[in-house]
Amino acid sequence: MKTIRLPERSPLAMTLEEALEKRRTNRNPAAVPLKEADLAALLWAAAGITDEDGRRTTPSTLDLRAVEVYVLRSDGAWRFNAADMTLEQTAEADVRRVSTAYQFEYVEKAPVTLVFVADKERSKNARPQGVWVDAGTMGQSCYLAATALGLAGCVRASFNHEALRQAMNLPEHLEPIVLFTVGVPA
Ligand SMILES: Cc1cc2nc3c(=O)[nH]c(=O)nc-3n(C[C@H](O)[C@H](O)[C@H](O)COP(=O)(O)O)c2cc1C
Repeated sequence: MKTIRLPERSPLAMTLEEALEKRRTNRNPAAVPLKEADLAALLWAAAGITDEDGRRTTPSTLDLRAVEVYVLRSDGAWRFNAADMTLEQTAEADVRRVSTAYQFEYVEKAPVTLVFVADKERSKNARPQGVWVDAGTMGQSCYLAATALGLAGCVRASFNHEALRQAMNLPEHLEPIVLFTVGVPA
């Protein structure tokens, strides 16, 4: 399985006020790839490390950092390694189709779906809703970054968690819980 080093991330230059004002769900992406610098910016917004002690752009229940971000693209499924800004492949197949219960055309057109994956071992002493809140904050971070980058994005939660876990080759203690689908607007 391959590892990809992400390039320097695109700057997120819009003011926070403008990004909050303009944030919208947009399910109309063009069928073109996402620039890796933009992907790096989205991943950093979701779970980038911003402190020497490992704390991140988004908060986490009990500071467990039990939700990690994965990437689905036509070239497979990838784990975002935030410490060294790399992508580590977990599956070679295009499994984007498995990330929805009904929006097949949309998710196969959009170049990237980010997957927020909860580690049930690491979070076993936290309240069950904690990882969902972690993933929700990641989703909003992605929305704001996508707005600043001029991208079309959508948080999604209608999918079969177990089917996607298997398609991504993840062990049983890792559960995909929330998604963010993103691309260049059509
Ligand atoms: C928890 C959650 C789950 C969602 N699941 C889906 C989904 O499966 N598919 C989809 O197209 N949109 C999904 N959405 C996006 C909402 O439909 C969207 O946020 C809502 O229509 C409001 O539009 P806005 O984001 O532009 O304000 C979801 C949003 C949230 C917060």
